Amino acid sequence: MAEKILDRFKLDGKTALVTGGGQGIGQAYCFALGEAGAKIAVVDINTTVAEETAQALTKKGIEAIAITTDVTKEDEVIKMVKTVIDKWGFLTIGVNNAGMGVWRDALTQDFAEWRKILSLNLDSIFLCSRTEAVEMAKKGYGKIVNTASMSAHISNTPQNQAAYNSSKAGVLHLTRSLAAEWAPKNIRVNSISPGYTKTALVDKLLETPEGKTMLPKWLEKVPMGRMATVEDLQGAVVYLASPASDYATGTDIIIDGGYCCW
Ligand SMILES: NC(=O)c1ccc[n+]([C@@H]2O[C@H](COP(=O)([O-])OP(=O)(O)OC[C@H]3O[C@@H](n4cnc5c(N)ncnc54)[C@H](O)[C@@H]3O)[C@@H](O)[C@H]2O)c1
Repeated sequence: MAEKILDRFKLDGKTALVTGGGQGIGQAYCFALGEAGAKIAVVDINTTVAEETAQALTKKGIEAIAITTDVTKEDEVIKMVKTVIDKWGFLTIGVNNAGMGVWRDALTQDFAEWRKILSLNLDSIFLCSRTEAVEMAKKGYGKIVNTASMSAHISNTPQNQAAYNSSKAGVLHLTRSLAAEWAPKNIRVNSISPGYTKTALVDKLLETPEGKTMLPKWLEKVPMGRMATVEDLQGAVVYLASPASDYATGTDIIIDGGYCCW
């Protein structure tokens, strides 16, 4: 007889790293995984927010470290995973979440900006997943959770953001491709696609003159009539990181208040 259902969501004895873990969605993921029992490496390019988050986790009785990493740099990603292995000996869960968005008409987007968005939102997911999977394969078990977006499924309106949408669609198919490739190694690769979620990233955009006109237009298209909170996303990451989802791989959980239904 299998363990009781809630026990299969527990992450005791597991280790997790979360990129972009210093704020926003990534920070909420750190708390969710930590509260479920995992030791947490908070990875961020911003050392201050990574350390503050690690300290807040520690205060709650969760074992945590901060790692400063630019996830677009291969040598830094290799160092990131090595830091976890040196500290805890193994990596069970990799949550590849760091990302950025820019509103830009494609006709005026220069190639450098396109590359920057693709580099952070898609290239880094490959770099992190591959480097994490090398260690997971040694142990014969691993869980990778990538942050995609509802923008992987639809083209947002009224703002134009072809680079962002394309990068996130790439995350979905990379997730499926790696899932099929690594299933024989007992490594699951899944993604979460949030809808509009209240975080610093979105708040900054909404403060601009263009942004101020945006929110009511967005909410008209969200059947649930509100943005997500970061807490709305926490259950999915625990599910995908835990043994409860051991038969799920290559799948994407859309949490968008129904946006993609219309
Ligand atoms: N907020 C939303 O509405 C929303 C919706 C769908 C998907 N997402 C995705 O969720 C993820 C997190 O978004 P958020 O809203 O929490 O953003 P955020 O800006 O609040 O947090 C992003 C974090 O990533 C870190 N980061 C940026 N570049 C990095 C790099 N090169 N290396 C390491 N860390 C880096 C930042 O310092 C920051 O702490 C992103 O991938 C975003 O595309 C967000």
